[in-house]
Amino acid sequence: MEIIRTASRLKELADKARAEHKSVGLVPTMGALHKGHLSLVERARRENDIVVVSVFVNPTQFNNANDLATYPRTEEADCLLLEQAGVDAAFIPAVEEMYPEPDTRQFDLGPVAEVMEGPMRPGHFNGVAQIVSKLFYLARPVRAYFGEKDFQQIAVIRRMVELEGGFEDLEIVSCPICRADDGLALSSRNVRLTPEQRAVAPAIYKVLSQSAASPLPTVKETQRDVVEQLNSLPFMKVEYFTIVDGLTMQPISSWNDTDYAVGCITVYCGDVRLIDNITYKKN
Ligand code: PAJ
Repeated sequence: MEIIRTASRLKELADKARAEHKSVGLVPTMGALHKGHLSLVERARRENDIVVVSVFVNPTQFNNANDLATYPRTEEADCLLLEQAGVDAAFIPAVEEMYPEPDTRQFDLGPVAEVMEGPMRPGHFNGVAQIVSKLFYLARPVRAYFGEKDFQQIAVIRRMVELEGGFEDLEIVSCPICRADDGLALSSRNVRLTPEQRAVAPAIYKVLSQSAASPLPTVKETQRDVVEQLNSLPFMKVEYFTIVDGLTMQPISSWNDTDYAVGCITVYCGDVRLIDNITYKKN
């Protein structure tokens, strides 16, 4: 596996792949890799000639300095995992390499970014659009892989691709959430949970899956019920639980509003912010 530190070397690799009609699959990450990331990598491996994984803790998407400072950084272990997964190149740039000058681009992300994580984390999605567009321009992937754990992020990236225009042959591939045996969605932030908090955290998926299996008659009651159940547990404080149309991200008020209802949740477990989501199947 080649470790690439410069944008120019990544571009060179991408140009060569294009010239040889080889497909590049890109998996953007912020490192501290776990099985969730690796499930994306494995899929990319199956579907492309060349797999590039980026590992970059992108400062412009953090709206909280403490979150950026405490974000886990485990480069050596990440490289080992990527090597074992058969990755061709790990792109691990320094901040100055990705932002030689400040990125002042403001993306008109529209309604998909105006709900849920949008208002909760001002500037976050614009920062995601900045870094992911830079990565797309450099690596010129035919497929790029994203996890449904960050459900709204996928809609934002699709919107960015639409706005940029130049990525006609790029497919955004969305991949299912990878969970621990007890149901907790795998996340780089889970290591910050104390053992007591870690023991309570699986309740998020438990409550969500019970709710999806037997939703209450109205969307409002269903939302309230999930929030009440989780807030009654130690350490847990729901930030929002919103049931949206899974394509537009717009909140629904009636089950009849969509064929694809997804409940998106953010919960603080102690001071660790956890996110998850569940699809409500139409019966
Ligand atoms: P990061 O949180 O490292 O996640 C990288 C990718 O792995 C994202 O697409 C995320 O949805 C996916 N992922 C994380 N946990 C997962 C799980 N349990 N199951 C399935 N997929 C999972 O998301 C980001 O980084 C950044 O915002 C990024 C897109 C790299 C831009 O900086």
